[in-house]
Amino acid sequence: MKIITVIGARPQFIKAACISRLRPSIVKEIIIHTGQHYDDNMSTVFFKQLHIPEPDYYLNVGSGTHGTQTARMIEGIEKILFNEEPDIVLVYGDTNSTLAGSLAASKLHIPIAHVESGLRSFNKKMPEEINRVITDHLSSLLFCPTHTALDNLKKEGIVSNVHLVGDIMHDSVLYYKTKAHKQSDILTRLNLSAKKFYLTTVHRAENTDDPNRLTSILKTISQLDHDVVFPLHPRTKKQIEKHQLHIYLSSPHIKVTDPLNYLDMLMLESEAKMILTDSGGVQKEAYLFKVPCITLRDETEWIETVTEGWNHVTGVNTQLILNTIDQFKLPPKHPALFGNGRSAEKICQILLEFLKSIKKK
Ligand code: UD1
Ligand code: UDP
Repeated sequence: MKIITVIGARPQFIKAACISRLRPSIVKEIIIHTGQHYDDNMSTVFFKQLHIPEPDYYLNVGSGTHGTQTARMIEGIEKILFNEEPDIVLVYGDTNSTLAGSLAASKLHIPIAHVESGLRSFNKKMPEEINRVITDHLSSLLFCPTHTALDNLKKEGIVSNVHLVGDIMHDSVLYYKTKAHKQSDILTRLNLSAKKFYLTTVHRAENTDDPNRLTSILKTISQLDHDVVFPLHPRTKKQIEKHQLHIYLSSPHIKVTDPLNYLDMLMLESEAKMILTDSGGVQKEAYLFKVPCITLRDETEWIETVTEGWNHVTGVNTQLILNTIDQFKLPPKHPALFGNGRSAEKICQILLEFLKSIKKK
């Protein structure tokens, strides 16, 4: 039995590591790295730190417009699928690499398994929303992290081969958090005191490509009352340079870093006083570490974290964010929203059963 895993962006490396670790040995896995993320600190570092097998194919697609980037990926993936003839293609999340893997496989009538299926922001201006809706509708096997995701699929008429398995990033946090505490010296390196700093990440197109929104976010962090760690995504770095917004980051309480490795990131997340982010993964990790979160967007797919009171969706208005931080009350309850940390195990089992069933036909 043969699966082809298509990955290309930072969060996909982290998710794929969980499955690669547990994959049953009778299933051969071939990894295609599209090259969507290519800087060492956005790609190689995760393969090394999380012991992900070297990709069998590297497409070297790089950056570009959505059309160019996705088209290059499809062209490369299609050739490999022709040659390798896998039984299934495994895709993760909602990036252009996810979409390309799904489109290439579906046209060749190869079944698709989608991990992190059913997420919706209901905002079609988000490229990720388009990618995930299309991928879900093309998939033969759908793995949902939450009840909300399951309900979203049901409303779109997708009901067969849909499995609620919990969130694979929870598995990852449980697996690596102790290691992070043992190995990461990031608090010392950045001269931080536990629970006395904010952690901020920003990379969404809606925030980085709109100079007004980006300025508003930077202005806000320049006014925070404790240290702020700000690992800069390359997209954000480029926009800050383009619009000459460094001035907002010049205060010594703002610690700008390059993108961090996973263990340093987990360490910072677990020890932060509060997290301000537009990342999907970081919102979840904040919840898992019981750290209050401010989501710098106008909506979120991880709505349960908001309902439970651990996450406030503020958009980018400075005064609203500062007021929300001031008034944040830690909720008394912290239910297990993302499963029991055994999602990868469940996914592998279901995948194996599915492969056996299609082999019989
Ligand atoms: C992509 C995903 C997004 C995901 C994010 C995770 C899409 C449409 N977006 O966004 O869903 O949340 O990854 O981080 O797939 N760049 C570099 N070096 C790199 C990678 C990117 O310099 O290694 C710069 C380039 O200028 C590029 C820009 O970042 O144009 C954006 O990269 P891209 O992969 O297109 O989108 P992300 O914002 O990273
Ligand atoms: N992450 C990391 N280093 C960083 C920023 C994020 O290791 O400098 C990790 C983070 O802990 C989470 C994942 O990357 O596991 C989230 O990826 P990202 O925010 O790029 O994308 P999203 O989840 O929004 O798609």
